[in-house]
Amino acid sequence: MKPLNIKKTEKIAGRLTVPGDKSISHRAVMIGAISKGKTVAKNILDCDDCNYTIRAFQDMGISIKKDGLLTTIEGAGLRGLRVPSRNLNAGSSGTTMRLLSGILAGQDFASVLDCDESLLVRPMKRVIEPLSLMGVDIKGSPSGNPPLVIKGGIVKPVCYKLPIPSAQIKSAILLAGLYADGTTVVEELFKSRDHTERMLGYFGADIKINGVKVSIKGGGELEGRSVEVPGDISSASFFMAAAILIKGSKIRIENVGINPTRAGILDVLKKMGAKINITNKRDLFEPVGDIEVEYGKTRGIIIEDAMIPSIIDELPIVFVLAALSEGRTVIKGAEELRVKETDRIRSMKENLAAMGGKVRVSEKEIIIEGVRSLSGASLKSYGDHRTCMAMTVAALTADGESRIDDIECVSKSFPEFFEVLEGLK
Ligand code: S3P
Repeated sequence: MKPLNIKKTEKIAGRLTVPGDKSISHRAVMIGAISKGKTVAKNILDCDDCNYTIRAFQDMGISIKKDGLLTTIEGAGLRGLRVPSRNLNAGSSGTTMRLLSGILAGQDFASVLDCDESLLVRPMKRVIEPLSLMGVDIKGSPSGNPPLVIKGGIVKPVCYKLPIPSAQIKSAILLAGLYADGTTVVEELFKSRDHTERMLGYFGADIKINGVKVSIKGGGELEGRSVEVPGDISSASFFMAAAILIKGSKIRIENVGINPTRAGILDVLKKMGAKINITNKRDLFEPVGDIEVEYGKTRGIIIEDAMIPSIIDELPIVFVLAALSEGRTVIKGAEELRVKETDRIRSMKENLAAMGGKVRVSEKEIIIEGVRSLSGASLKSYGDHRTCMAMTVAALTADGESRIDDIECVSKSFPEFFEVLEGLK
């Protein structure tokens, strides 16, 4: 465990880029691997989670080679994956485990999808249930956790209403739907990130999106494509918050994914009164832009549950912004935070309380009362990358020195986080 001492920072300034989007990188590798022909993906994120996805497909006979910013995937078609000679390993990546289970559902072989200790406690019933309804033989532990044993083959189409808004569950069903004999429909209560739908459409799947309803027709093949992965807005959000909170700061983050189902943080920041501007907007198969943001006072807001899926990974940094905004912020319906890499409601509440922040949690709401400033304290990352990066930003604003107990966890999504931050000081 590597700790880090952090002092208050004068200001941050300059231009930066953030590494490739984690969600889109996973999907480019997975969808490239089950397409026919070559996929060349630019700017795939080089982090622990995505590397687990890459290794799992290499274990199923797919050639995936990196050369600088380019990753070349020799796709084998929907049914061309080979029987792995060992258990597949999702490491600590929930996205790898849940999305891959949808692809394994359609394979004509049995496989075991294993993981490291941190993922062992995360819920998998949410994918076991719909995939079982699709006729797939899939089992987890008695409590519905990993490892998963999947005997794939025949997949039946379903119409499934998601009980929880989750892009990972939706994606697992859509990927399994590629193998079904008929049309699979997934319906959400609130729209979660649509990266899978966009990429499947781009690779030639017969997929239709109608608001919160997505339908996909099985039986076709996908064709390998060229993909450019935009910068990850979740990684960018830590620098946006730092610029807003640290006096005199002004930054420009270039080439960031601003897909509306994913970029709720931009709306939240605008509503809080932050000075933020999106320029140079362009549309690859995912919308991209540059984000300019500068120091300014912010105010508390109410965040309704419909908003949560589009800011789910940014909520830890929203806690920090709310703690330093004028007035009260209420966050509704964010219980999913409890089953992320750690219980992020607890990790953020306890860390902010140690710094003098005021966070209350009721059954359905998180209430954060803004304070004028935070004080340096001893902080815990709980092994969670986003708690660690959010609390680093809080520590940069605080009076006195802070110490975070374990910073190596940032390699899960953003290995260069601390170097990029240093470059802006
Ligand atoms: C992700 C979906 C979200 C998010 C996770 C990545 C994805 O999880 O929190 O970091 O790539 O589909 P849920 O589907 O559990 O909400």
